[in-house]
Amino acid sequence: MVLLTDPLHVKSLVLRNRLVLPPMLTNLAAYDGSVTDALVEHYLKRAAYVGLVIVEASYVSEAGKYVEKQLGVHCDDMIHGLKRLVEGVHEMGACVVLQIVHAGSKSTLQNTIPLAPSSDGRSKELSKKEIGIIVDEFAKAAERAILAGFDGVEVHGAHGFLVNQFFSPLTNRRLDDYGGALENRMRFPLEVVEAIKDVVGNKLLLYRIGADDLTPGGSTVEDAKVLAKKLEEKGVDIIDVSGGVCGSRPAQFEGVEGYFIPYAHEIKKAVSVPVIGVGGIRSYEYANRILMEGYVDLVAVGRQLLKDPMWAKRALDSANLFKKV
Ligand SMILES: Cc1cc2nc3c(=O)[nH]c(=O)nc-3n(C[C@H](O)[C@H](O)[C@H](O)COP(=O)(O)O)c2cc1C
Repeated sequence: MVLLTDPLHVKSLVLRNRLVLPPMLTNLAAYDGSVTDALVEHYLKRAAYVGLVIVEASYVSEAGKYVEKQLGVHCDDMIHGLKRLVEGVHEMGACVVLQIVHAGSKSTLQNTIPLAPSSDGRSKELSKKEIGIIVDEFAKAAERAILAGFDGVEVHGAHGFLVNQFFSPLTNRRLDDYGGALENRMRFPLEVVEAIKDVVGNKLLLYRIGADDLTPGGSTVEDAKVLAKKLEEKGVDIIDVSGGVCGSRPAQFEGVEGYFIPYAHEIKKAVSVPVIGVGGIRSYEYANRILMEGYVDLVAVGRQLLKDPMWAKRALDSANLFKKV
């Protein structure tokens, strides 16, 4: 029986427990994307008890930037600051990975037309050559993260950003071999993973999967299961299950505890690598129960840890109560 306090061995790493701080944009980076004192402090406050910290979506290139004070891993100048962040989190005893993202059509770079799988009027359809360049940018970003000392990287493949835009039939209407059938819509996500795999070596490669677009005509959990199996084959070490194409908490889930857990459970049945579940978790009992019942391998708690960093300690303490049951 697994509880929040149980460690997890993945490749060469040991996560000291099953609690994860999921990636959450802080708007605390400098305008050039570099780490600030405030950003380090934010993470240190929340790293004292969790097993794994996934640092917020960081842009792989200027053209893939989403918001103004977003963390960047787009150039070598970022490595120094990221190193400071990693060292701080490691001192607190947690493992730490960096989520990397290209915003695609959601990019906000001034005076530039955003790039996307298909044009939506505002964005421009990527050529195959441009796709190859972006795959390379992901690999370079991962390389910088590893140089900075991160225990791995997470590809942001959810929430309607570029990787998800390729996977979703809502945003991918291409007629070439990157669009159409599921096999084609998986091509870009899998190319990104393949390129990064070589770079991470014995560190961790995580993938945040968009389990369901929750929109008519969008991708479904059945599609996500196929992708999850392919990701495992390509060497992804942990699958982090989220969903929805517009933000991370679709309106219908307001107030629902564990809203993506049934999706994570479905994905878990399809793969043998560890799976992270997330979505509206705020009770210790619920967090322990989904581990005990084998729905997920790791539990990510976002908003609750933003509000109350000490929630993590109390949740871990509560696991002892379950041991006695
Ligand atoms: C302020 C904020 C920023 C977020 N930024 C990211 C992000 O950078 N990358 C990502 O994959 N998800 C992001 N998310 C989604 C969270 O990782 C998480 O999946 C979501 O908040 C659901 O978990 P929760 O209900 O425990 O907060 C963000 C959520 C919030 C509230």
